[in-house]
Amino acid sequence: MVTRENGAIAVFGATGQQGGAVVDALLARGARVRALVRTPKSDRAQALAARGVELATVRIDDPASTVAALEEVDAFYFMTPEANSLEEIEEEVRVGTALVDAAAAARVPHVVFNSVSGADRETGVPHHDSKHRIEEYLKLSGLRATMVRPAAFMENFATVMAPSLEDGTIVLRLPLPNDIALKMISIKDIGQVAAAILLDTADVPGGAIEVIGDEPTGPQIAAAFGARAGLPSRYEALPLSVLGNDLDKAMFRQFAKPSEYPSDLAAVKAIEPTTWDLAEWIRSTGWTAPADRVRS
Ligand SMILES: NC(=O)c1ccc[n+]([C@@H]2O[C@H](COP(=O)([O-])OP(=O)(O)OC[C@H]3O[C@@H](n4cnc5c(N)ncnc54)[C@H](OP(=O)(O)O)[C@@H]3O)[C@@H](O)[C@H]2O)c1
Repeated sequence: MVTRENGAIAVFGATGQQGGAVVDALLARGARVRALVRTPKSDRAQALAARGVELATVRIDDPASTVAALEEVDAFYFMTPEANSLEEIEEEVRVGTALVDAAAAARVPHVVFNSVSGADRETGVPHHDSKHRIEEYLKLSGLRATMVRPAAFMENFATVMAPSLEDGTIVLRLPLPNDIALKMISIKDIGQVAAAILLDTADVPGGAIEVIGDEPTGPQIAAAFGARAGLPSRYEALPLSVLGNDLDKAMFRQFAKPSEYPSDLAAVKAIEPTTWDLAEWIRSTGWTAPADRVRS
């Protein structure tokens, strides 16, 4: 095995949510970080540079650029871009496999792939199966690899899954049955876990970890927001037909199936003892109830 010490940790996606959290956690641990970026002059890339992050310009279509960016690094973290169509799924796999090829060519000692919960197998969820394909490709590369498999982001409750306030009641509506526990994690904690693995301060038996911080049901999620707001709460399970995107339909269909294996929150907490549960995420992010939609 190739071993190097005190080199940089390379991060692909550093200007994004998860990669950004990985950079935050690495810098907090005193690591040298090299961000693989496509637009070094962008505001986000420049903000990283201002914090001491090295910038390496990469183009996925130019393998030499990614191989050069990965020379002499101790470890490499990569995520793959969001895919909202079958065409984008193929692009996601293309990006992921190209990064694996580059890591192999640069003989990177340890590669950490930011996959997704459940990607140990094919599930019929296109944007999860894409990550399964990348995981399999990475395993075949012969590189030392660790799969970090995050559950749904808690941050979704600030955007696409935000609860509303209706006639003094916090209301959450999701296309998920009442009794199903939704696995979730804060993006900050994805960064913490990935950073510990990249710096070899965490042990991941089996080379993969599902990263969750909580798994409440819909009514429990609504209650957590209600408790924070000091208001009553209500959960309404919606049919899958409310979703406009077939990929999301496949994902929520999968979420509704009983889990085929238990979540291992203890393994996550062993790496990051302060991993947030949903109540802590709500408190720490300063969430406040939205304006009331009083019905006339
Ligand atoms: N939403 C959820 O609940 C959830 C849960 C688990 C997993 N996921 C998965 O998480 C992934 C999205 O992660 P995220 O939210 O952290 O992404 P994000 O914030 O959208 O960031 C994407 C990053 O990838 C970079 N990038 C994209 N294409 C690139 C290219 N061709 N060359 C170089 N850099 C490129 C972007 O750089 P620029 O700044 O140049 O654009 C940016 O840094 C998706 O695969 C999704 O399926 C999501």
